[in-house]
Amino acid sequence: MPLASSRPLAPAVPNDLGSFWLPFTPNRAFKQAPRMIARAKNMHYYTPEGRAVLDGSAGLWCVNAGHNRDPIVAAIQAQAAELDYPPAFQFSHSKAFELASRIAALAPGDLEQVFFCNSGSEAVDTALKVALAYHNVRGEASRTRLIGRERGYHGVGFGGISVGGIVNNRKHFGALLAGVDHLPHTYNRDEQAFTRGEPDWGAHLADELDRLVALHDASTIAAVIVEPMAGSTGVLPAPKGYLQRLRQICDKHGILLIFDEVITGFGRLGYAFAAERYGVEPDMITFAKGVTSGTVPMAGVVVRKGIYEAFMRGPEHAIELFHGYTYSAHPLACAAGLATLDIYRDEGLFERARKLEPVIADAAMALKGSPNVLDIRTVGLVAAVDLASRPDAVGKRAYEAMERAFHEHGLMFRIAGDTLAFSPPLIVSEDEIGEMFEKTKAVLAAVA
Ligand SMILES: Cc1ncc(COP(=O)(O)O)c(C=O)c1O
Repeated sequence: MPLASSRPLAPAVPNDLGSFWLPFTPNRAFKQAPRMIARAKNMHYYTPEGRAVLDGSAGLWCVNAGHNRDPIVAAIQAQAAELDYPPAFQFSHSKAFELASRIAALAPGDLEQVFFCNSGSEAVDTALKVALAYHNVRGEASRTRLIGRERGYHGVGFGGISVGGIVNNRKHFGALLAGVDHLPHTYNRDEQAFTRGEPDWGAHLADELDRLVALHDASTIAAVIVEPMAGSTGVLPAPKGYLQRLRQICDKHGILLIFDEVITGFGRLGYAFAAERYGVEPDMITFAKGVTSGTVPMAGVVVRKGIYEAFMRGPEHAIELFHGYTYSAHPLACAAGLATLDIYRDEGLFERARKLEPVIADAAMALKGSPNVLDIRTVGLVAAVDLASRPDAVGKRAYEAMERAFHEHGLMFRIAGDTLAFSPPLIVSEDEIGEMFEKTKAVLAAVA
């Protein structure tokens, strides 16, 4: 009996590149010279031909424990064999509670409640919705405005692109959420170029929040969301004192402060969360990526106890927050998360990142003077190199650098515009950090 579809049961071209629309990728260029990865172990990817590629970006900022770690693989396999999926609404399973407790224990102060999602974008939307609903249940329903920051990246949901500040992520997608405003970004090359760690200049930019309060009135503002280190825009560490000042201004006006720690969570800046590095307690922390070291999609929001408690009212059989995802706290993700957190603890990987901070800073700064290098920034186990754009095309030099690094030098890094970003797994050795930047030096010469 012929199938209704004309699609053959066994496609003639099993690896045809046509159908897959790659995300955040120039599809036509990729399909001409695909960068394919077949397997991975520890610090390396391997191409289908077996060529090793040093992972200078922890995948997409997520593989903090290193690739295909045996305990995580075993935990996922065991979980798949035991419990595939219980309904996420009205039912649950023990590892969801265990992982929530473990994450809450890593978060500062009374950030004690964990709401699980599957991606950073969902975590951001969840945090924004919780902020709005929190004010609502407390009788302050006029607090509906959300404030993000220029150059911020908060994923690709409508909430995230509305509070986000990356123009290409916003300009094609209509009017976005109403009632959103933005703080200025914190980068100023004249004042900050070639800074290691948090720049001295820029704390005063937090005072712009007072200006927005004066414009809109505090009674209309629900929350401010910022990344403690803006990652996807090209690595902008927070200026010294900036986050502390933001906290003070939010407190003064009853505004919730959300740290988007999708990148900075789980050791990237040398601590479980960047909130700890800066000694600032936000009201909510979004996380994703490193929670499972990229092995199984998972994300979430850690929420202050008082916010959770504000919802715990009304009849006990009634749902308190009308929000959630089919795959919230999926068993495979929870098993992967628990095994990942064990590795972080047992191998001291957050402390290791802290110890390696001056090593990556020295290695990156050694690129000063290489062709087209305009600025280098470092913080935690992160480094970024700004390149001068080719006269005809913003982003082209960095794209060529990424291609050459992968195909010719066995190195992977991220690009954002003409910025190269480095964020290796936290298991990286000092030698491998040296190798990353030696290879990058050769790449910069090749794209001069
Ligand atoms: C700070 C931040 N928030 C949110 C996201 C979105 O995460 P996802 O791609 O998992 O939706 C990212 C992704 O890089 C991010 O860096």
